[in-house]
Amino acid sequence: MDWTPSREDFNHYMLPNYKPQAVVPVRGEGSRLWDQDGEEYIDFAGGIAVNALGHCHPALVEALTTQGQQLWHLSNVYTNEPALRLARTLVEATFADKVFFSNSGGEANEAALKLARRYAHDKFGAHKDKIVSFRRSFHGRTWFTVSVGGQEKYTQGFGPVPGGIVHGEYNDLESARELVDANTCAIMVEPVQGEGGVTPGDPAFLAGLRQLADDYDALLIFDEVQCGVGRTGELYAYMGYGVTPDILTSAKALGGGFPIGAMLTTDKVAEVFVVGTHGSTYGGNPLACAVALAAVETIGRPDVLAGVAQRAAIFREELERINAKYDCFADIRGKGLLIGAEFNERYHEQGRATLAAAIKQGLMLLVAGPNVLRFAPSLIIPENDIREGMAKLDAAIGTLDLTS
Ligand SMILES: Cc1ncc(COP(=O)(O)O)c(C=O)c1O
Repeated sequence: MDWTPSREDFNHYMLPNYKPQAVVPVRGEGSRLWDQDGEEYIDFAGGIAVNALGHCHPALVEALTTQGQQLWHLSNVYTNEPALRLARTLVEATFADKVFFSNSGGEANEAALKLARRYAHDKFGAHKDKIVSFRRSFHGRTWFTVSVGGQEKYTQGFGPVPGGIVHGEYNDLESARELVDANTCAIMVEPVQGEGGVTPGDPAFLAGLRQLADDYDALLIFDEVQCGVGRTGELYAYMGYGVTPDILTSAKALGGGFPIGAMLTTDKVAEVFVVGTHGSTYGGNPLACAVALAAVETIGRPDVLAGVAQRAAIFREELERINAKYDCFADIRGKGLLIGAEFNERYHEQGRATLAAAIKQGLMLLVAGPNVLRFAPSLIIPENDIREGMAKLDAAIGTLDLTS
């Protein structure tokens, strides 16, 4: 068909639940992208914390093309070699004994929540169904996960929210203590809150949740969809905290850009998911698992993991420099290469405006709420791309109109 789609065609053909930027990227390599007009961009977003090895990493392209010529899909009526290889790799690298594959983070969390409910039901009785989660958390857009997530704006207007879900304050152990009781089946938490503002969990808070879960026979679920697979400098963030969950969910960086999610758990918990209790047509398909295996093996290399702290230090140094120049940030925080820069009063809620200004300078950024710039770049972004991208951010902030 002789037709080049444009940004305007989005409004014509697609539902208005997104508002994409004006440019349409068509090609990516490493931490750089090019749009339809050949304009170049530096990528500090990585999709949304997904392209952890940048765009079109050779190991991922190789895995995709090799598998693409062998076998794409089977359904779970059969198992397949890439899924088994990936499951074994994840089991050997983590606390987990068993893995369930999905296609996204939301589905991995949906599976985790269902598993926790079913475990409590089978082991303790139907009364034990309370799920404790935290405000500002984000766990996905399925009806269950959006209800467990701690942001009301995502459930408003969709009808009755499922019962048995309560929310405490993140990093406030006392508020969790007030909610967790004998009827609690699960405590769900992001070790580092991503969408909610890039807020790292306090070590004492996460350790306290582990203790609470143990005291009340509840399962501790770590949602590592955004902070997992190398982003914090550990393969999974829980490793750095020394707090081990009963269930862990993973997605985003797991596939390096190819859709896949995973739920990891122990033998003891996994056994309640007997044949027929849960499933997915595409979950664990050979294509996704082959790419994810290449991603996990590459990201898990000691040099890649060690490089995260070095790159994070450069990001922070550059952000401090920009802050010294403009006095724009109240806080620069995060863990590894998941970094948030919160605007101060003078720059209040300039997040979206900065994103648009950055695109004009040739830089892709993210926000986490209206007041926080979020950085989730490739874990192997070269130093000169960081410096060049930060010069563009500097220029973008310089163009902001603070009177508007
Ligand atoms: C912590 C966390 N959990 C779950 C999700 C949902 O993942 P997905 O969009 O792949 O369903 C996200 C997505 O941003 C996330 O950040």
